[in-house]
Amino acid sequence: MAEIGQNISYAAELLRAGELVAIPTETVYGLAANALSESAVDKIFKAKKRPYTDPLIVHIGHADLVENFAHIPHSKARALMESFWPGPLTLLLPKKKNIPDLVTNGSEKVALRMPNHPLTLQLLRQLDFPLAAPSANPFGGISPTTPEHVNKGLGNVIPYILDGGPCTVGVESTIVDFSANGELKVLRQGGISEETLEQFFKLSADLSEKTPITPGSMLSHYAPQKPLFMGRKDQLFSKYQPGEIGVLAFGVLPAAYHGCPAFQLSERADLEEAARNLFAGLHYLDELEKVKVIVGPEIPNFGLGKAINDRLRRASAKSSLE
Ligand code: TXA
Ligand code: MG
Repeated sequence: MAEIGQNISYAAELLRAGELVAIPTETVYGLAANALSESAVDKIFKAKKRPYTDPLIVHIGHADLVENFAHIPHSKARALMESFWPGPLTLLLPKKKNIPDLVTNGSEKVALRMPNHPLTLQLLRQLDFPLAAPSANPFGGISPTTPEHVNKGLGNVIPYILDGGPCTVGVESTIVDFSANGELKVLRQGGISEETLEQFFKLSADLSEKTPITPGSMLSHYAPQKPLFMGRKDQLFSKYQPGEIGVLAFGVLPAAYHGCPAFQLSERADLEEAARNLFAGLHYLDELEKVKVIVGPEIPNFGLGKAINDRLRRASAKSSLE
């Protein structure tokens, strides 16, 4: 297992030596390496068993550093950074040459964000390079929101996990791109809701689903080992004992599920609280020995509900009752 601790200088030393360190962010834990070093970045893909076709987000410690790595094509981009950084918003921007092609899968655009976590911001400020960091889980699996989740998935292939406690947002950053005419497009739903972005900008109707360039947009992702179903109650009860059905609950647990092991995402049906607890709930039910199958809740499709529903839909994509 990897060592878990709060030694920022040690984390910096490992990263300078080209090693991997898991870092806390407000969204999920990231698996970080020096974004300017191909050999360090390559270790990320190997550790996660991630295909090279799946590019990485680059994390910076200060918004002023953006122009070291990317061009700012549009005044909207600057306004977004000013409004939402540090925070769960990732911008796709035309990259400069110092960002290795390995990071972007050869794309001319790099995904940049300034995360909002005090330890990781301190760490970034001790380094003279930015950090490439995907979520710190084996490719396709459930994202980690605690050091223990990271250790479970990657503990045998990384030396150190910087412990920043449980993540406060709990779903990944919202990824936005600009079309040629300057329209803002949401490529991945995440910690900043579309409604919040819309208060600033009109969003392009041409949404993510049509441009599946991000693996977050691959149909199966964020998946537990056990099958996960949305609804299909009757079929589940004809196949499984109540004790074998693990329920992710949102607000009042439907009477039909009394007697089933349950994990409450938010007793008061609060979307932010549910987002914060989502991955912990999936990890928990995936590990409960008696549980054979997981059933997800109905979540209203607005605000952070859109990001939650996106994760649940992809997490359940491979599951079949046949
Ligand atoms: O909140 C987050 O964004 C977390 C924390 C650690 O910052 N990171 C994260 O990384 O979710 P990851 O790798 O699990 O998801 C990043 C997504 C992927 O779907 C990837 O394809 C997309 O961002 N992406 C990264 N660079 C890109 C690029 N140059 N062009 C298009 N998509 C890109
Ligand atoms: Mg991920």
